[in-house]
Amino acid sequence: MLHHVVHCFSLLTPLFLTMLESSNLVTFNGLANSSSYDAFLLDEERGRLLVGAEDHIFSFDLVNINREHKQIAWPATPSKRDECKWAGKDLGKECSNFIRVLQPFNQTHLYICGTGAFHPICSFLEMGKRENIFRLASHFENGRGKSPYDPKMLSASLLIDGELYSGTSADFMGRDFAIFRTLGDHHPIRTEQHDSRWLNGKKRKFIGVHLIPESDNPEDDKIFLFFKENAMDGEHTGKATIARIGQLCKNDMGGHRSLVNKWTTFLKARLMCSVPGVNGIDTHFDELQDVFLMSSKDPKNPVIYAVFTTSSNIFKGSAVCMYNMADIRRVFLGPYAHRDGPNYQWVPFQGRVPYPRPGTCPSKTFGGFDSTKDLPDDVITFARGHPAMYNPVHPIGGRPIMVRTDVDYQFSQLVVDRVEAEDGQYDVMFIGTDVGTVLKVVTIPRESWHDLEEVVLEEMTVFREPTPITAMELSTKQQQLYLGSGLGVSQMSLHRCEVYGKACAECCLARDPYCAWDGSECSRYFPTAKRRTRRQDIRNGDPLSQCSDLQHHGSVEDRGVYGVENSSMFLECSPKSQRALIYWQQQKPNDDRKHEVRTARTLPRVGLSSSREWKNGQLPLWPSASLT
Ligand SMILES: *[C@@H]1O[C@H](CO)[C@@H](O)[C@H](O)[C@H]1NC(C)=O
Ligand SMILES: *[C@@H]1O[C@H](CO)[C@@H](O)[C@H](O)[C@H]1NC(C)=O
Ligand SMILES: *[C@@H]1O[C@H](CO)[C@@H](O)[C@H](O)[C@H]1NC(C)=O
Repeated sequence: MLHHVVHCFSLLTPLFLTMLESSNLVTFNGLANSSSYDAFLLDEERGRLLVGAEDHIFSFDLVNINREHKQIAWPATPSKRDECKWAGKDLGKECSNFIRVLQPFNQTHLYICGTGAFHPICSFLEMGKRENIFRLASHFENGRGKSPYDPKMLSASLLIDGELYSGTSADFMGRDFAIFRTLGDHHPIRTEQHDSRWLNGKKRKFIGVHLIPESDNPEDDKIFLFFKENAMDGEHTGKATIARIGQLCKNDMGGHRSLVNKWTTFLKARLMCSVPGVNGIDTHFDELQDVFLMSSKDPKNPVIYAVFTTSSNIFKGSAVCMYNMADIRRVFLGPYAHRDGPNYQWVPFQGRVPYPRPGTCPSKTFGGFDSTKDLPDDVITFARGHPAMYNPVHPIGGRPIMVRTDVDYQFSQLVVDRVEAEDGQYDVMFIGTDVGTVLKVVTIPRESWHDLEEVVLEEMTVFREPTPITAMELSTKQQQLYLGSGLGVSQMSLHRCEVYGKACAECCLARDPYCAWDGSECSRYFPTAKRRTRRQDIRNGDPLSQCSDLQHHGSVEDRGVYGVENSSMFLECSPKSQRALIYWQQQKPNDDRKHEVRTARTLPRVGLSSSREWKNGQLPLWPSASLT
């Protein structure tokens, strides 16, 4: 008779600890007269974290943000504050100088802009090459097209080769939202004004700007923008907001006769992140919240991680989707969206596309034309009328790598670290939420890279009160994570192996790629250290194969239950402790490997139809399970 062995372990340590109880969290609780600690710039070379907040710029020591920080007060002038108040704005909440742009300019200076009480203003911040300088230049520049007027508006910027790319609103009312290029020697360039085909609606928000090379020739370099906007008229009816990726050529100088000082290479596509529903109606995650680029050996092909939430007021959900550049480039080379037909609906453009294809950068690689000012009129006319692509960009694997619903929080920020482990490389995500917590999640390939299993390693509270996390930076050099919110700045270690307990099995079951059992404790794993005694198994988390002392260890109890294929059985395991963690593994006939029986999502694969739940250290209830 074929039978399965189901193992049950009970462990004495809970995996989830509240971070605030531990000493690993360092928090700067902010100034009484400031808020909005959300403009972060990580400066690994100088070992500093620069933070722009309300009326202030801070410089923190990356080793310990509380060690000795420096600060500069940069408030709006009293006259600008008065004007702001007279214009009907809230003096206490809106009429300050909220720092929104903090970008490296050259070896010695940063470029910095703030809302300036609804009167954007920029300046240089001197840092010195290595010296201990931290001072604001005495002359100020107009910040229009660089920083938003309204502190509530999300904007994004990138300074590269002396030029500043900004997605922001450029007027007091917040109506003129656009993508600008300012600074540098050239005339400023922007998106077409008052044209809803280019950028649409009131809910426009810019999330990120990145340079991604297209080839080895810098002439082909492209700037990619991540934003959300209202769906175009008649497009995806019912969806108010949609997420977008936009592209521009870095060497776009605008048109000659038309589109003068406007982008001629701007294209945008929808970023999809959805899960199929039972009734055929997909659940869409359209509210783009954050984007993280995981660089690879090939700078042309970073992996793009994006965090989304739902637009619905009733249904709260969050998701993480992953995209690759090949899919994005394919969409930008695909059909343009075009309005046609009796109902004037959006269709793929079928006609002749003028040459050089709109969206191509002037370069020797593809086009053989020198400047966008040389583009033929028909190319410019076509580009002006067709900024949107017809096909959306779908995520890797066609669906999110992580979804959270039925919880009373949403995701807000994300950073990812690539970690070398004993059995391969893993991406560990740190996801910030709108209630001041951080989830540490590792994605583990099951059969292929397109089939990932997510394991939540830790869930930590990082601010003293529930507050949205609005900024995150990760330092691989320091192995630290830095978090910003309205309340202040926090710092935590990427790994806290000691929380996984005092036994090899506990360390192994944690499946944290940063940690391994070294023979006496759960500690940091270093891939270079050739110590054969290190025990770690991220892919399977199988303590039986890793920990020889398992059967003899007091805190772990292993019990096997035999089941008949295709039958139902009741899985029961009564641990000694109320705080115990229970862990089931299934071993199929003629298979030496044991598979962990995990969340409901993974059950079809292991063939069990039960789900397990535990809350507050209570014992889980075990519904009957059928083995296949
Ligand atoms: C806020 O308070 C700090 C001291 O806590 C002071 O250095 C700073 O100048 C104040 N900022 C403003 C804008 O008044
Ligand atoms: C950096 O830019 C600032 C502002 O334009 C300038 O004063 C400074 O000399 C520049 N530094 C270097 C090293 O070029
Ligand atoms: C279990 O079910 C599968 C599919 O229904 C079938 O192929 C298999 O023979 C069954 N095994 C036993 C032992 O009945």
